[in-house]
Amino acid sequence: MKYYLTTPIYYVNAAPHLGTAYSTFVADLIKRFKKMEGYDPVVLTTGSDEHSLKVERAAQAAGMNPLAYTTKMAAEFISQWAKLGIDYDHFIRTSDPKHHETVRWLFERCQKNGYIYKGAYTGAYCISDEAYVNDVTPGEPCPTCGNPTETVTEENYFFKLSAFQKPLLELYEKNPNFVKPDHRRNEMIAFVQQGLNDLSITRTNIQWGIRAPVEGHHVFYVWFDALISYMSAVKDDDFWPADLHLIGKDILRFHAVYWPAFLMAADLPLPKQVFAHGWILHEESKMSKSRGNVVRPGPIVDVVGADALRYFLLREITFGQDGSFSYDALLQRYNSDLANGLGNLASRTLTLIQQNRSGLIPDSPGSPEVAEAARRTTELTMDAFCAFNFSRGLETLWSFISVIDKFIVERAPWKLAKDPSGFAQNMLDETLYSAAEGLRIICAWVYPVMPDSARNIWIQLGMKTPIESVTFADLHWGKLVAGQKIGSVAAVFPRLDASAIAKMEVLEVQEKARQAELFGAAKPVAHAAATPEAPKISIDDFVKVDLRVGRVVSAERVKGADKLLHMKVDIGEQHPRTIVAGIAESYAPEQMLGRKVVIVANLQPRKLRGIESNGMIVAASLEGGKPVLAGFLEEVPVGARLK
Ligand code: MSP
Repeated sequence: MKYYLTTPIYYVNAAPHLGTAYSTFVADLIKRFKKMEGYDPVVLTTGSDEHSLKVERAAQAAGMNPLAYTTKMAAEFISQWAKLGIDYDHFIRTSDPKHHETVRWLFERCQKNGYIYKGAYTGAYCISDEAYVNDVTPGEPCPTCGNPTETVTEENYFFKLSAFQKPLLELYEKNPNFVKPDHRRNEMIAFVQQGLNDLSITRTNIQWGIRAPVEGHHVFYVWFDALISYMSAVKDDDFWPADLHLIGKDILRFHAVYWPAFLMAADLPLPKQVFAHGWILHEESKMSKSRGNVVRPGPIVDVVGADALRYFLLREITFGQDGSFSYDALLQRYNSDLANGLGNLASRTLTLIQQNRSGLIPDSPGSPEVAEAARRTTELTMDAFCAFNFSRGLETLWSFISVIDKFIVERAPWKLAKDPSGFAQNMLDETLYSAAEGLRIICAWVYPVMPDSARNIWIQLGMKTPIESVTFADLHWGKLVAGQKIGSVAAVFPRLDASAIAKMEVLEVQEKARQAELFGAAKPVAHAAATPEAPKISIDDFVKVDLRVGRVVSAERVKGADKLLHMKVDIGEQHPRTIVAGIAESYAPEQMLGRKVVIVANLQPRKLRGIESNGMIVAASLEGGKPVLAGFLEEVPVGARLK
């Protein structure tokens, strides 16, 4: 039976980082695990999301045409996935003509079934989120991300999403596994229960996209385009529907609401499951390019190997929840769990067999207690892995490593070896067989998580069949063949000291510079020239804007909004103003305290994340960059007007 799974397709305007590599690692793990379970073929699709205004502008800033730009960026993803050892089957690019055809085909099916109509839209559009924004005046910051919005007025094609409220609720009800984990499913139910607005699925203001098969210039909205890539990738084979879409929680609504609605409208089979994982945090916030706190996988792989990184992320973070990355925690886990844990068990066991049994696996059924512990470990790990609870599965496996370690210490094979009696030699055989057989079972289980290291130990154990062909049947006790000659023994996870962190940090700086060059640094001058000139206004218009000098008296982050700061600003009035501004990625709250800023004081109040903001802070807005606050070189009194 086939199993088809996907990672999200990645935006090509940012290089891969640990956050974006995370879904890909897990997808690779699940692919290997599903093969062990007996699915055949197991097919994994990943790819690149290449269209949109954002990419069009990034290409323009880099002085390239969009296709040349995205080809270069897609190649970077392909080479990074190779470095991380990702065993994918398809890398779909949304610029692929095969994909364009599929998108048009799906649109036409929806149209034929009466779910597409033409309508007009005027409103605010957030380029950063690639989404229309309700409840803001065009030009004001997006309430989700804080970036400026743009006004768009368009005649668009709409998708009748509103028709799918009931069918979607029925889907979640009938198929409780459609959205996982459960708390995310509840979020989707609550969202759909509120009612669904129809969705504008074409744009006229974009060139770099898939042309809709309609009259005039209409390009598909990026999500109507991107989601369909999951189908385009396997269109020539018979792999649709997908068994699993692995995604981050921030893109769940697109996958759990829009995507099944598009498919239902086109009368096509739905994916079986959408699993939304949490975020990798770094320095306490979501790792992301715009925040500037990304850690790149390449340097880590160069120092500790891809397997150690995979192990760390899967062991440290409960899959489905957020979790933090730090070099210190990585090194600690490496030394305690890999060097001292699995690595030590492997070298100890194999060396004992080498020294005492000439490298041959002894003939013994093994210890019944260790056999029972192995059986129980397999049972628990199976439950955990099947539920995608990888951290629990790994914890169970490492408890088993401790059981074997303790068993070896108690049996003291080095003492038994010195006793020639039949009893002692039988005990020695039993001890060594148990340790080796336990190690083999652990190896088979660890393989989906750390394929290279597991293969390495597997070969040292002298196994004849490749580890890639291991199935659940091989997890039974007693499959290790007596008399098998082990391979040459070498440390799999040599211990590391703090200099490993320094090495990773130095490489990270180099990698950051390499990628910055590759992705093209923002070119503000070129952008300024490309920005259309604003219409002329009279001085009377200008004086309508009440610009004041203010001093920030308090500042804090807005919960759940990465980009927003909630501040009180003294502008010489009786009470400081409350101002919410999208500057949190450039300025920490403590940097803002006491700082003099320029405020637009007579803007109509507006609510951002439930907080009423009474004014706007003035900042330079750079293409692809962060806002830079306006300020003064000389001393200016609070409340002074700018004219
Ligand atoms: N292009 C869309 C997906 C389209 S799928 C049809 C997109 N791309 S993305 O590059 O911005 O993000 C890709 C995936 O990376 C998302 O699942 C997102 O959740 C994930 N992550 C990005 N940063 C992350 C972390 N810091 N932590 C974990 N995953 C995160 O969205």
